[in-house]
Amino acid sequence: MYNQKVLDAFAHPQNVGEIENPDGEGTVGNATCGDIMRITLRIENDVIVDAKFQTFGCAAAIATSSTATQMVIGMTVDEALKLTNARVVEELEGLPPQKIHCSVLAEEAIKKAIEDYRAKKEGKQVDKSKVEYV
Ligand code: FES
Repeated sequence: MYNQKVLDAFAHPQNVGEIENPDGEGTVGNATCGDIMRITLRIENDVIVDAKFQTFGCAAAIATSSTATQMVIGMTVDEALKLTNARVVEELEGLPPQKIHCSVLAEEAIKKAIEDYRAKKEGKQVDKSKVEYV
């Protein structure tokens, strides 16, 4: 079902965990399967210098979380906002069609973490207790 690159990313995920006192954090869930992904970012001068993830989910969700966090490290926040799930899937050389929706979590969690970063910069309070289902 999964190609070797996806299996490797699942078996040896990078950037697992949580950044303490992150500059941005985002948690999203998949309304159909209930899987949840949380991404925390360290951002310096609008550049993502570190990214970590915690995913309660399937192999595709874990592989795409790992790959997406690797991809955004070194990007500016504007560049990271343009990262699509399709680009992450391409980096993994494909996912089975029925697992494409799992990759949406990574894109959305990164976007949410960047929104959180921008809101904090503007001094706004953000309610992080809610999981946004996508
Ligand atoms: Fe839920 Fe993959 S089946 S994210």
